[in-house]
Amino acid sequence: MFDRMKEDIQAIMARDPAAKSGLEILLCYPSLHAVWAHRLASFFWKRRLRLLGRWVSQVARWLTGIEIHPGATLGRRFFIDHGMGVVIGESAVVGDDVTLYHGVTLGGVAPSVDSDAQRGTKRHPTLLDGVIVGSGAQILGPVTVGQCARVGANAVVVSDVDCDTTVVGIPAKVARKDSRDQAQFMPYAQGADIADPILRELAATRQAMLKLQQRVESLEEERERLVLADDSSEDGKPQAVGA
Ligand SMILES: CC(C)(COP(=O)(O)OP(=O)(O)OC[C@H]1O[C@@H](n2cnc3c(N)ncnc32)[C@H](O)[C@@H]1OP(=O)(O)O)[C@@H](O)C(=O)NCCC(=O)NCCS
Repeated sequence: MFDRMKEDIQAIMARDPAAKSGLEILLCYPSLHAVWAHRLASFFWKRRLRLLGRWVSQVARWLTGIEIHPGATLGRRFFIDHGMGVVIGESAVVGDDVTLYHGVTLGGVAPSVDSDAQRGTKRHPTLLDGVIVGSGAQILGPVTVGQCARVGANAVVVSDVDCDTTVVGIPAKVARKDSRDQAQFMPYAQGADIADPILRELAATRQAMLKLQQRVESLEEERERLVLADDSSEDGKPQAVGA
């Protein structure tokens, strides 16, 4: 149990650049408190102590702003950054190494249909390993979000998402498809290899200057050749280079 708790703290440290120490994570990260409370709630839920499970889940919601139904299945190293406003439904399944930001819903789609008929059915999404879901995104219905897929902030996902795919917008559409090295988590979807916009602008300006410099040098060489050709011509008239 302590190994799992340590792993939870390490997962947050690895993914949140703002986290400075294990103690800070222990005291200040609602994700950790909500996930630990969910383990307790789920323990009761699975032993048919349903009301107790729901009550633990509700207490955790009051304290963290994160609502995880005790029936939901969560994988290892699950991290909810900031947390407030996250809702995870009863039949949701979350794989390993998944990251959600605040305001995400893993919910159902059809509140108006007969709830008795829906009871016990799979109504909520499945997120496979390594998925990242941006803040405010809503993933609705029994859809599957493939391994290492990324859901853009504020997107509304109502159909399956392929692995290694980025989806954005309402309804969510594919914006990019590529497989990346998931060994290195990219907080806020920014890799360490991606320079900040000012550095990127400076690099582009430097490239443009180098091109200009090369052009000036080649023009100067051409001019020298023309002058030389001019000097060597017998009648003193300039001659075309290579003529
Ligand atoms: C979707 C996301 C994960 C980026 O994934 P990515 O695979 O690196 O995708 P890119 O950044 O290359 O974006 C692909 C395209 O989608 C667009 N896009 C990215 N996020 C978008 C969003 N939330 N809504 C609409 N379009 C979006 C990009 O502008 C780009 O468009 P282009 O191809 O026309 O230039 C990232 O944009 C995101 O939403 N991260 C969530 C971060 C977050 O919630 N932060 C909260 C911190 S408190």
